[in-house]
Amino acid sequence: MCGIIGYVGREAATPILLAGLKRLEYRGYDSAGIAILHDGELSIRRSVGKLHNLETVLQDGSLQGSIGIGHTRWATHGRPSEQNAHPHRSGDIVLVHNGIIENFLTLKYRLESEGYRFESETDTEVIAHLIASIVRRGLKLEEAVRLVSQELHGSYAIAVMSVSEPGRIFVSRSGCPLVVGRNDHGTFLASDVTPLLAHTRDVTFLDDGDIGLLTESDIFILGPNGEAKPRQIVTIDWDAEAAEKGGFQDFMIKEIHEQPQVISDTLRGRFNYELGEADLPDLAMTNEELINARRIWIVACGTSWHSGLVGKYLFEEMLRRPVQVDIGSEFRYRQPMIQKDDLFIAISQSGETADTLAAAREAKRLGARVLAIVNVVGSTLAREADGVIFTRCGPEISVASTKAFTGQVVALYLLALHVGRVRNVLSPEEGRWWLDHFLMLPGHVEQVLKQEEAIKAVAAAYYEKRNFLYLGRGINYPIALEGALKLKEISYIHAEGYAAGEMKHGPIALIDEDMPVVVLSPKDRLYDKSVNNLMEVRARNAPVIAFVTEGDRQLDRLADYVLSIPEVHPLLTPILFAVELQLLAYHVAVMRGLDVDKPRNLAKSVTVE
Ligand code: F6R
Repeated sequence: MCGIIGYVGREAATPILLAGLKRLEYRGYDSAGIAILHDGELSIRRSVGKLHNLETVLQDGSLQGSIGIGHTRWATHGRPSEQNAHPHRSGDIVLVHNGIIENFLTLKYRLESEGYRFESETDTEVIAHLIASIVRRGLKLEEAVRLVSQELHGSYAIAVMSVSEPGRIFVSRSGCPLVVGRNDHGTFLASDVTPLLAHTRDVTFLDDGDIGLLTESDIFILGPNGEAKPRQIVTIDWDAEAAEKGGFQDFMIKEIHEQPQVISDTLRGRFNYELGEADLPDLAMTNEELINARRIWIVACGTSWHSGLVGKYLFEEMLRRPVQVDIGSEFRYRQPMIQKDDLFIAISQSGETADTLAAAREAKRLGARVLAIVNVVGSTLAREADGVIFTRCGPEISVASTKAFTGQVVALYLLALHVGRVRNVLSPEEGRWWLDHFLMLPGHVEQVLKQEEAIKAVAAAYYEKRNFLYLGRGINYPIALEGALKLKEISYIHAEGYAAGEMKHGPIALIDEDMPVVVLSPKDRLYDKSVNNLMEVRARNAPVIAFVTEGDRQLDRLADYVLSIPEVHPLLTPILFAVELQLLAYHVAVMRGLDVDKPRNLAKSVTVE
């Protein structure tokens, strides 16, 4: 996720672009850059890190002009560096891009064979060269943008300028947001409405396939075949802060709602459907190495540890491979019996968690192959690992992790599929079957999100309670842990997650009519056992909130509240339950009047022991 911005008008562009980028910085802050077109000259300034670094560079006032584009980056292809920062230029053409171009390697090789030299590791630079190559054939920029849009696979929103067509910015989108607006001194474009609100409240959201032309005095929208389209104006009445959160009250709830997109983004371009295989080019492990890996270890902290536990159940059931899962702080000090050629998977949203990093370094020292499942490109873990699978969640702002967890579980699904195919445990048909079902997950999460009102009712009933118990079995035992963690960290209610079968060995003593018990009961081979546990809870008068598979009415009379997830393979249930429990924790915390995005005593990235 990156942010793009543009302005063409009569005012100085640089301060407008900088103010807009400030509003978009939540979308990524690995680097930022601006290009200004003035008197037939293109000037670009870029800098690594947060926007204030670029602001410092621009303090010399050298970027004068009233037409420009800007970008704030969340790195996907290529580490955060000045070279990889946008805008990217090819001759007279300069552009900024948000999204991922899946076929960039094919396009890059073709362009290289035509003599184009690449200065960055990004997928974006291919778009600049492609447009430049078409313009060189004598076509106008508009035509070039249209032709290139037809060649790109993946998702993008771009803004392009050319020295040979001053006073115009072209934009195009497919799968990434883009909004444009105008006032009496110029026209504006941005990745979301936030930067536009200082200038206008009447905006137009582009549709996929649209091309927009911005001039000083007007905006023209063209359909995929160049046909003029009427500009649909929407009036925005949010305040700027609400707009940054996409209209949601907090980042946490916004991030919960982003999960269908996170699943699609994390899967995108990472499988070969024909072969029923996952395609993970950054794994940096040969098939032989994967086959010969003696043991598989997963190490992480907090929520990431919970996704690691899901990975254990997944690998053991899907691949019949034993997996050892550890907490980072435990692993690093307990002289683990890890050996050369073991596969060590470190999972982290930030890639900076001190205990996870130390564990990964220890594993590497002992000769294991370290694979990172990580969200932040350019983070220490991503750089130090032998191989990496990036979860493409975009920046997670809320301290409580939600979408990163989902991205991690999806990455583990892809890895399990890859190992399964390499080791021949899964046939191509089985591989395709799993892919079909992975690809249905975004739709299932959409369904789950529709239950928000019902979950709110549960929160309203119990938000004043002081203790909660979460019970799950099998692959949903980690989800019971995760549900309890979410609740305790943002609502400050004491919550315990337990393996349902373990309840009678102690925690049952806690149960009374004042302790709501969340029971995860999907229709799987452990269903009857979960129901037994629910009955034991019921017998002690505790309020019961049951999470079941859609269509299961058996628990209607036994539980106080019943919520459901769509019917999916048991190994695919964890994400769906996790989303429901995130919503429950969120609404409980909101009803308690707490700051959900910044819970007390916590930090987003734990870089100390
Ligand atoms: C919980 C949470 C933490 C993190 C943990 C690891 O909501 O956010 O438990 O999961 O601190 O952080 P990463 O994944 O960045 O290594």
